[in-house]
Amino acid sequence: MIIAILNQKGGVGKTTLSINLAASLARSGARVLLIDADPQGSSLDWAAMRQETPLFPIVGLPRPTIHKEIAQIGKDYDHIVIDGPPRVTELARSAIMAADVILIPVQPSPYDVWAADEVVKLIQDAKIYKETLISFFVINRKITNTAIGRDVGEALAAYPIPILDAAITQRIIFAESAAQGKAVYEIDQTSFAANEIESLKDALLKETNP
Ligand SMILES: Nc1ncnc2c1ncn2[C@@H]1O[C@H](COP(=O)(O)OP(=O)(O)OP(=O)(O)O)[C@@H](O)[C@H]1O
Ligand SMILES: [Mg+2]
Repeated sequence: MIIAILNQKGGVGKTTLSINLAASLARSGARVLLIDADPQGSSLDWAAMRQETPLFPIVGLPRPTIHKEIAQIGKDYDHIVIDGPPRVTELARSAIMAADVILIPVQPSPYDVWAADEVVKLIQDAKIYKETLISFFVINRKITNTAIGRDVGEALAAYPIPILDAAITQRIIFAESAAQGKAVYEIDQTSFAANEIESLKDALLKETNP
């Protein structure tokens, strides 16, 4: 399965979710490749911080030809996760064309809900040619014990894209693990963050293989 994690809005958690979802899939025994489609190369930077052996290979492909190259590059893998760039629309479009599933991280803020407009339009355009394409919002950086998570759910309901039934909470361990080039489960496999990532993976697999 090819999973693209996209949102032209910056800083919503594309790289954080890409790395941890890839790690979670690899941990369950799948052969996983991460494609860093962001010219900033954040996933590659993450890998460069790592002392241990890699959890999965990462290739940098910040070119709008991902959809043409992916069959060749990804042929030996069960799952490919594409970490998308902020802003660059041609790259996002190429990643959408390459993908089976799109995950759109959104933070529980009205700005994020409004900014999702752009990626939703790209997905709707692609669906004209690619009827099998599926996509979900993933709420990231939810603050526990606040109503805003529910509010954002209501606001996102205006878009023709469902919300994946697995939100990720705001937790410092995501930044701490990233600084060491690690997945959250490597810092603490019993942590809430690691459990939420497992639930995200399970929800995704359930939606794609019902
Ligand atoms: N659930 C979370 N809890 C705490 N911090 C988070 C969470 N998700 C992301 N972050 C932090 O927010 C910042 C932005 O996250 P990230 O780099 O994953 O976003 P991005 O969408 O890839 O950004 P860009 O658009 O620049 O590529 C990072 O410092 C990351 O550690
Ligand atoms: Mg990023």
